[in-house]
Amino acid sequence: MTVVVQAVIPAAGQGTRMLPATAVLPKELLPLVDRPMIEYAVEEAIASGITDIIVVLNSAKLQIKEHLTRRFAGVRLAFAFQEEARGLGHAVSCAAACLGDRPFAILLPDEIFVDARPCLRQLLDVFEPTQGGVLAVQRVPRAAIGRYGVVGGDACGSGLIKVTDLVEKPKPEAAPSDLAIVGRYVVHPDLLPALQQTPPGIKGEIQLTDALRTLNGRRPLFAQVFAGRRYDVGNTRDYLRANLELGLESEEYGDDLVAAVRAWIRRSRDRRARP
Ligand code: UTP
Repeated sequence: MTVVVQAVIPAAGQGTRMLPATAVLPKELLPLVDRPMIEYAVEEAIASGITDIIVVLNSAKLQIKEHLTRRFAGVRLAFAFQEEARGLGHAVSCAAACLGDRPFAILLPDEIFVDARPCLRQLLDVFEPTQGGVLAVQRVPRAAIGRYGVVGGDACGSGLIKVTDLVEKPKPEAAPSDLAIVGRYVVHPDLLPALQQTPPGIKGEIQLTDALRTLNGRRPLFAQVFAGRRYDVGNTRDYLRANLELGLESEEYGDDLVAAVRAWIRRSRDRRARP
């Protein structure tokens, strides 16, 4: 049985949705409660059994390398470069020289997953007995499905789907299901040559979903509806909500923050009640 030990964390994007915060500072270093958001992806990978992490960045985002090297000694870190943001699929292919011919995981650092069993571990628990690729998916309202890569397929276990179809950003009426691909993947190394042959798709970017579609049918591919919560912290609204909710739940800061929020609600109620 092959066990997955390598993971790619793509962090070379432009972070335009979070401007002006990201005008100079890499999005992946913006703090969530008390640490940069990228640390959550690194911690999740380590907690899932990953020993080798390849971070993809560019020469304007070298602070990410400095930060991670200082913070994580117990895991092997390597850095690959994508100087032009040509899409997530292209970013993953930039890590090819650091990857062998074994399956590997991909974690998007601007998505945070919260559960007692790490999201990547949930995917690896499907990968290990089946040796098939696995994508994390989330049910999304039809009106929003066009923002995501979407899978179609047949239910084959609790929250588990055998994938037969993948589409990037479909029109809601053409979507094969309401199952949106979110930022955790376990893939086989034949994804890398497939990415090389994938032409730019939507927004002129090389899409991971397009390359996965060309491989589909060659070997089993599964989608797992992950257990737990997800925050898309690459947009400011979810980023703020994640900071608030994770702050309220934090062992160190939770009590103070809960008291502050209660007091804030009391004050705003009083203000509204005043004639
Ligand atoms: P996103 O699409 O969420 O990030 O990619 P972005 O491109 O930085 O964001 P916006 O749309 O401009 O606001 C998910 C992850 O993939 C990385 C990003 O850094 C992010 O962590 N990524 C994306 C790359 O490494 N290279 C790319 O070309 C695109």
